[in-house]
Amino acid sequence: ARKIIIDTDPGQDDAVAILLALASPELEVLGLTAVAGNVPLALTELNARKILELAGRPDIPVFAGCDRPLSRPLITAEHVHGKSGLDGIDLPEPQIGLHLRHAVDFIVETLRREPAGTVTLVPIGPLTNIAQAFRQAPDIVARVQEIVLMGGAYFEVGNITPAAEFNIFVDPEAAAEVFAAGAPLVVMPLDVTHEALTSRDWIDGMRALPGRCGPAIASWTDFFERFDKEKYGSEGAPLHDPCTIAWLLRPDLFTGRHINVEIETEGRFTAGMTVADWWRVTDRPANANFIRHVDRDALFTLLADRLARLP
Ligand code: BDR
Ligand code: CA
Repeated sequence: ARKIIIDTDPGQDDAVAILLALASPELEVLGLTAVAGNVPLALTELNARKILELAGRPDIPVFAGCDRPLSRPLITAEHVHGKSGLDGIDLPEPQIGLHLRHAVDFIVETLRREPAGTVTLVPIGPLTNIAQAFRQAPDIVARVQEIVLMGGAYFEVGNITPAAEFNIFVDPEAAAEVFAAGAPLVVMPLDVTHEALTSRDWIDGMRALPGRCGPAIASWTDFFERFDKEKYGSEGAPLHDPCTIAWLLRPDLFTGRHINVEIETEGRFTAGMTVADWWRVTDRPANANFIRHVDRDALFTLLADRLARLP
């Protein structure tokens, strides 16, 4: 199985991404590393443990990472995810404990321990932990198999400012360092994740699953949907973060281009923008596989099939 570390700020869509990975035998989740993002770190690491408990996977370690961006104050998104970060269903206090090691140390040690080119990083929150790990141990960059992240937007523009997507906007300096690091990069921007919209039928299908995970997923997506409905008038909730895991399972469902993507860190109106050279109008070298479209029906069939395997 392909070894992955999920770096996350759960987040209802983060929860679905994590559950999708746990339901997929092609992937081995080495650990969850929590980062501050949608809500503060104390809640994201707690939510990560609640999700593992729900899935019956106390064997997977959870580590807390950076509690704020590299050089800015933290911006959170309770307006999207609710006060807990995981509103929609109340999960019990988890029995699963938090590991004492810092998430950044876990990332560094894991990449040094495992054979080079065998560990994939899946960041689905702000990129603070990953950038910090690369700063602390530049030698690990060349050992990363691939980074498959959710973040950015180009044609769909922003969801937190007119120009920027939340994960990149929260810590643009971290994003700039990760995009420039040189590790193979796959990027799921809003351009594709806004195609990954849940349907009523799909949510009803989740709610009808016999286990406990299906109904939780339905409640989370219902909660998540209400925001997009009010804000964008769209039916359905965008499953941003699960696109990363889906790509690891079925890259053939996605299309994009290998292009240069730069992160704006200074713009007066555009800080956190992912400036994607889609038409290759510069000679800056390609550094990312920037995904633009997904086969929506096939994606949701995959999700339904996998999530139905959970307890
Ligand atoms: C991203 O921001 C968070 O709110 C979601 O979990 C996702 O990772 C979408 O912009
Ligand atoms: Ca997230």
